[in-house]
Amino acid sequence: MLRCIAASSTFQNVCKIGVLVCYGGVDYGARFVRIFIMDCFLKVYGCQMNAADSHLVSRLLADAGIREVSETSEAQAVVLLTCSVRQHAEDRARGFARTMRGLGKKVIVAGCMGKLRGQELVAEGVADLVLGPDEYRRIPDLLLGHDNLNTAPESFETYSDLLPATNSSVSASLSVMRGCNNFCTYCVVPYARGPERSIPYHDLEKQLRYILDRGVKEIFLLGQNVLAYRHGDMKLIDLLERAARLEGLDRLGFLTSHPRDLSYEMIQRMARIPQLLHFFHLPLQSASEGVLKQMRRGYSLAEYEQKIGWVREAFPDVYLTTDLLVGFPGESEEDFELTLDAVRRIGFDFAYMFAYSERPGTKAADMAEKLPVPERKRRLAELIDRQNEVTRRRAEGLVGTEEEVFVTAPAPRGQGAMLAELKNYRPVILNHTARLGQKLQARLVGLRGRSIIAEPLAKEVA
Ligand code: SAH
Ligand code: SF4
Ligand code: F3S
Repeated sequence: MLRCIAASSTFQNVCKIGVLVCYGGVDYGARFVRIFIMDCFLKVYGCQMNAADSHLVSRLLADAGIREVSETSEAQAVVLLTCSVRQHAEDRARGFARTMRGLGKKVIVAGCMGKLRGQELVAEGVADLVLGPDEYRRIPDLLLGHDNLNTAPESFETYSDLLPATNSSVSASLSVMRGCNNFCTYCVVPYARGPERSIPYHDLEKQLRYILDRGVKEIFLLGQNVLAYRHGDMKLIDLLERAARLEGLDRLGFLTSHPRDLSYEMIQRMARIPQLLHFFHLPLQSASEGVLKQMRRGYSLAEYEQKIGWVREAFPDVYLTTDLLVGFPGESEEDFELTLDAVRRIGFDFAYMFAYSERPGTKAADMAEKLPVPERKRRLAELIDRQNEVTRRRAEGLVGTEEEVFVTAPAPRGQGAMLAELKNYRPVILNHTARLGQKLQARLVGLRGRSIIAEPLAKEVA
């Protein structure tokens, strides 16, 4: 009934000012009900798990009759799904929250930073309300003024009963587990997201079917350490095999893999799943044994490279990406150079690269031998140059070939151009308009910066 009210343009104007007395619809029978509605702007920072969480929050908002708007100017309230992984992510969210509060909006800071810096944000006057990643269910009540944050939060939330609100995209992500038990010494995620918990298959299947029924063709199964998925006897590899059999699922991926947990047997079974994207994101972080130990990553460089060998053998066309972190406390110039060497030797197709950011409460924050920030930045800049060179070289190697491309979105600034993916998930820019979800044969004609440009051939792939 609430959605029926929000759909009416006469009522929408009334909704915006907050209070509405209306005639009840079908659900409530013929009686008068008093409803408080507001328009809300949802802003998401951080990793893919936060992006996936935003679809759960959208579902909660929609079910409560709260309208999501695409402009802050239309909203009375702003909900931020925040990230604390680096200081920069916190600073951005803090700045946005402050601006919104200055404009008189109600501000809820939810997610990782809400959990870790909540009280601070309220004391600073940056947020009206704060809550962690396990407390999203309270957002509608908080917006509508029915919850005062006095009740204890659910500590092992999985949201497995919620059907994620989908937009019109052909690609979607679904968290199959939450939390992390790894406690890498630099990382705040286990403190922000709590302990690992996996969602049972029967719940995931309902969510997956719901997403697929809406026309999504590509799904990523997510977890901070997704290879650790375990529910009863079911491990990630079993989950991938079962999910791949769902009708309508054409492309299947998973993120993020911890290199320590990747096994030979798993890779062999993965190679037999036809829908599985030939894409591995395997965060290396550092190529120095000493630094890896200090980070508590649980693998050596030799083990990492051996696993890359297994992956390349099973998936010769693999699109391989990684995360690299430089300037960790105690990282010497030699340690750093080992990472530079590894980047060239391993030949990642792409890397997410970061300068170490000190996170209060983590083990590394107490380590001596912190590097000066300008030195961390210098190393990062050098690493980026090195990786860009490798990224470009690997992309150049594909120019001139013909590939199948899967169209995923309009290109952000490209008149008529589209974003598309190769069979192994590598992104390309298609120099032509095309339907979302369409599969085309295309020729990779050149590079723009480090991006590959593709021209469609006449054929559409069935
Ligand atoms: N679960 C994933 C990573 C999640 S965080 C994994 O284990 O790989 C994403 C990336 O942020 C990390 O891989 C790391 O490279 C980076 N990161 C995490 N904490 C950081 C910190 N304190 N400073 C800088 N980068 C950090
Ligand atoms: Fe952080 Fe390590 Fe967990 Fe990844 S595996 S989220 S880096 S603690
Ligand atoms: Fe950031 Fe939380 Fe993801 S800290 S990286 S949003 S799990």
